[in-house]
Amino acid sequence: MQKYEFPKGFKWGTATASYQIEGAVKQDGRTESIWDRFCQTPGNILHNDTGEVANDHYNRYKEDVALMKELGHTAYRFSVSWSRVLPDGIGKVNEKGLQFYSNLVDELIAAGIEPMLTIYHWDLPQVLQDRGGWQNPDSVKWFEEYSKVLFDKLGDRVKFWITLNEPYCTAFIGNYNGIHPPGLRDLGSAILVSYNLMLAHGAAVRLFRKMNLPGEIGITLNFTPAYPSTDSEDDKLVARYVDGLDVRWFVDAIFKGSFPQDLLELFKEKGISLPDFSEMSSITEKIDFLGVNYYFPTWHQYNKNSWPFCGDVVRRDIPHTDREWAIHPESFEKLLIRLKDEYDTPKMYITENGCSYNDVLTENGEILDYNRINYLSTHFKAVHSAIEKGIDIRGYMVWSLYDNFEWAFGRYSRFGIIYHDFETLKRTPKQSAYWLRDVIRSNGLD
Ligand code: GCO
Repeated sequence: MQKYEFPKGFKWGTATASYQIEGAVKQDGRTESIWDRFCQTPGNILHNDTGEVANDHYNRYKEDVALMKELGHTAYRFSVSWSRVLPDGIGKVNEKGLQFYSNLVDELIAAGIEPMLTIYHWDLPQVLQDRGGWQNPDSVKWFEEYSKVLFDKLGDRVKFWITLNEPYCTAFIGNYNGIHPPGLRDLGSAILVSYNLMLAHGAAVRLFRKMNLPGEIGITLNFTPAYPSTDSEDDKLVARYVDGLDVRWFVDAIFKGSFPQDLLELFKEKGISLPDFSEMSSITEKIDFLGVNYYFPTWHQYNKNSWPFCGDVVRRDIPHTDREWAIHPESFEKLLIRLKDEYDTPKMYITENGCSYNDVLTENGEILDYNRINYLSTHFKAVHSAIEKGIDIRGYMVWSLYDNFEWAFGRYSRFGIIYHDFETLKRTPKQSAYWLRDVIRSNGLD
């Protein structure tokens, strides 16, 4: 049997996000975020669930870090809740809230786990949304101020900084698809938000450099490769447009200082008013690493009535996870090679990859999630193959540590390698957690 061995020092762990796990939404001076508000409107979230309690990680972080240690993790990616640290969005710092992250970082380091900190994973303070949120050009300054608070307090111990998680979702899912807060359905607004997010990212990287902090800084982008469903020119054109938004949009901005020309032309043609993009050059501030989130690809077919790309997603007859996400590890490898070829990316970390399955407890209290093990092992091998081809990938964070508040899908979409009982808050490692422990131990798999 072939042994897939990863490079020495490869970092292994899981990823989470503040609103998805922390709970304690009113504790110690935390104020409302856009997610707290969004969850209050019936119908926004499956079964009207909220992140009010989630995994109660805020009160149980020690137990969680001990679990990670027991399971052999060497890194952990988490995000900070902006409204815990700056209850008014800007201005006065809430020392108690900030101290929580300082304690978490200390706890991780003491357990031999490298902290990877995401500054923003979608939970904008509601007070800032009330001032226009990311559509307000001041959001760039707000984000810079918030980043500085974290750099000042944690910059001595955190060596991996991620400015934004998946700006695609903040911009397009929040402002165009309306499935995330602020729940708008306006492409022009979404594009403006995407631009301001990129400016905010650039400003934070510049500040980080100016402060001369010892660690590294990057950004996490999600990529959903798009393919034509047939060889027809129409299908190819649709797939190319979708690729523009789902793959190229942010990575073009960061590495080339422009948004994809073909899409800008299409958007103009469709009458969408675009920002002036006059500060694009401030986005290309050099980053130390790129965080890659990959889950699944999509296939597309032409439909002249579909706006704005004249296409629809087509389901392929291949295995899918319970979220109806196609399982296609080949796309993962191809994507990593393409990022290096087309963008000359610096080193990369897989900052998220994983799958949702409707896990059940057996009578013995076990979770035999062989489907997840299978998903992870084929995707680990795809990344291994990219590394063999010379792509510099330094670590892999599985999404997620435990089942948590899965945004619009609430608690009903389980991504964890640890099972979470949302009533008792009991954490039970699934079979995949033990399997991952063995992978980490041998730094590879068969
Ligand atoms: C994302 C987010 C995560 C999700 C995960 C599963 O990629 O959408 O970063 O917070 O929970 O991806 O959907």
